[in-house]
Amino acid sequence: MKNVFMVSALCGLLTACGAPEQHTAKSTEEKIDSLISELTIEEKVALIHSESSFASGGVKRLGIPHWVMSDGPHGVRKEHGTDYVPDEGVADSITYLPVGVALASTWNPELGYQYGEVLGSEANARGKDVILGPGINIIRTPVNGRNFEYLSEDPYLISKMVVGYIKGVQDQGISACVKHFAANNQETQRTQVDVYMSERALREIYLPGFKAAVQDAEVNTLMGAYNKFRGQYCTHNDYLVNTILKGEWGFKGVVMSDWGAVHNTMEAINNGTDVEMGTDLSLGSNPNYGKYFLGDTVVSLVNSGKVDVKIIDDKVRRILRMMYKTNMFGKRQSGAFNTKEHQATALKIAEEAIVLLKNDNILPLKRESVKTIAVIGANATRKHAGAGGSSQVNAKYEVTPLEGIQKLLGDKVVVKYAAGYEISKEAKANPALIQEAAKLAASADVVIYVGGWIHGFSDAWTDNAFDSEDTDKPNIILPFGQEELLKAVQKANAKNVVVLYGGAATDMNAWEKQAKAIVQAWYPGMEGGTALAKILFGETNPSGKLPMTFPKKLEDSPAHANGSYPGDKNNGWKAEYKEGIFVGYRYYDQNKVAPAYPFGYGLSYTTFEFGKASATKADGGNVVVKVTVKNTGKVAGAEVVQAYVSASETKIERAPKELKGFKKVFLQAGESKEVEITLDQNAFQYYDEATKSWATEKGRYTILIGNSSRNTPVTADTNF
Ligand code: BGC
Repeated sequence: MKNVFMVSALCGLLTACGAPEQHTAKSTEEKIDSLISELTIEEKVALIHSESSFASGGVKRLGIPHWVMSDGPHGVRKEHGTDYVPDEGVADSITYLPVGVALASTWNPELGYQYGEVLGSEANARGKDVILGPGINIIRTPVNGRNFEYLSEDPYLISKMVVGYIKGVQDQGISACVKHFAANNQETQRTQVDVYMSERALREIYLPGFKAAVQDAEVNTLMGAYNKFRGQYCTHNDYLVNTILKGEWGFKGVVMSDWGAVHNTMEAINNGTDVEMGTDLSLGSNPNYGKYFLGDTVVSLVNSGKVDVKIIDDKVRRILRMMYKTNMFGKRQSGAFNTKEHQATALKIAEEAIVLLKNDNILPLKRESVKTIAVIGANATRKHAGAGGSSQVNAKYEVTPLEGIQKLLGDKVVVKYAAGYEISKEAKANPALIQEAAKLAASADVVIYVGGWIHGFSDAWTDNAFDSEDTDKPNIILPFGQEELLKAVQKANAKNVVVLYGGAATDMNAWEKQAKAIVQAWYPGMEGGTALAKILFGETNPSGKLPMTFPKKLEDSPAHANGSYPGDKNNGWKAEYKEGIFVGYRYYDQNKVAPAYPFGYGLSYTTFEFGKASATKADGGNVVVKVTVKNTGKVAGAEVVQAYVSASETKIERAPKELKGFKKVFLQAGESKEVEITLDQNAFQYYDEATKSWATEKGRYTILIGNSSRNTPVTADTNF
């Protein structure tokens, strides 16, 4: 049952106090004023801290409901109450969408909106008020355990995808919660690490996604991160929250803490934390949320005159404002979960998310000419929904790769399976399993290897590993002895396709050359196996593009090359982001480090040709880029036209190129289309630390156009 009071029944009684009543001409702010004037300090304080693991307090007397929150980011969690116990009646299962990084790989903002719509609708059906997503921290290192939940290494791609997601959720009358603000780029020592970076890196790389969430998508809530930033915890960081978020950006919504991320009452009061959330595990089945930093102490501080009640009122005002905005005092939109439409959205996103990295004329496989297929690798039968930390989802179903392949092929092709490796903490290469797999590989026409990463060993939190919350990967070399296995399988059968599950890059050096094709599947959601099979057998033409650089080896990636990951243990876990603005492809370009697969890259079963490009100045300083793209192959497909800006005559240090526009176009075989991309002023600006403002340098700019950060065959120039 929904954990709120019976508000509508109370409404009639409440018109006298004027509070949640909907029918007068009073503005919302006036209604909030009168409601605040009715609240006692104890009631105000009840609203600003959690009352159970996933709900903040309400005020029954005035019909103010609890605020019921739910992870997020790729499905609606089942718990409402204390200690992560499923609420009665909600232990059923929901839609498991492809994870965040998969959504970003579609490079299709419209799918971001549809993704959000599914979450919003299911949240409504499940009685949740806030979805704790999207997660948009920058993918700074391939080992971050939560990369799979995040979107990209590039702030522009994040900004475009995040807006759709948030609007999709909020158009359903549910609040989204963009997280984790800010610089939460690793799980190792996540509650200790103290991040330092240049102001320019902060403004140009780490903040634009959040700014877009606030200003373009008008997100209702935002979650402060666990880590420190320049010596102060992010959730109550004066500079991040007061100065930038609520000051410069004018954020009117609610800042909630990450779970247990508040460490100091006065800082939380003064530095903009509106709601302290967390799980009180210390008292077992008898939690006492009153002892939270924003709990009973605040009542005493106000009563003794040490804290001005106006500061608390501002927090309450923000909460009430979002409650009105999402119609929590009125009738909520109806929602639904597990509908065919939601499952179809999960499938569509997965189909556009999967990235084809390599293809030596083996894909798509032709079912007419293949008689036997060896499917090898434990991820072919593994389900991933139920693990990974707070994002885990109780999925209605999850089509595994093996099931997807079998279903698509029916009984016309013999499909045999061997795990080849074990998934367990101790697992190393297992000679018996390898031998069995190699034998099977030798006997088949073609091998589909499905391996890569997992979230955890089971769905227990304590078993989280690899692509999971609270832990980073030790390195990016395939676990469980998969390299040995792959080598044996590839020796037994040269016709092998390697499919990788995982949230980020893998070191492929040991087996890449011998793979005829490589497919990055991410964690593609409940219809992932169906989508994968459709791609392998050519029913779907792949169109996913990498939202991050895949380095050849971990040491090539900036935070590892400069030794700043994971921070200095002997110096309060200080992590100095020495690479500055050179994050992701900006670093690889600047330092001429060849990646294994570059940002923006992904193959198709067809070919595209770019015609001449033009760049024309339009009103308001915008630059309109036009380019014709032609599908020159034999099948229909989609290409992502990417526009990178390069300040050709710059006198300051700038990245060689930066993504500033993109468009995904669907083209029939032989079809061509003119694609128009508008670059606004922001596309040419850099953050000037001296003047503390955005600036456009005078001079020539080259717009590089192509289908990856390392393939930009056409250019057009403009001047400022
Ligand atoms: C995570 C958040 C999550 C929260 C609630 C925290 O540990 O960092 O992303 O929303 O738990 O489950």
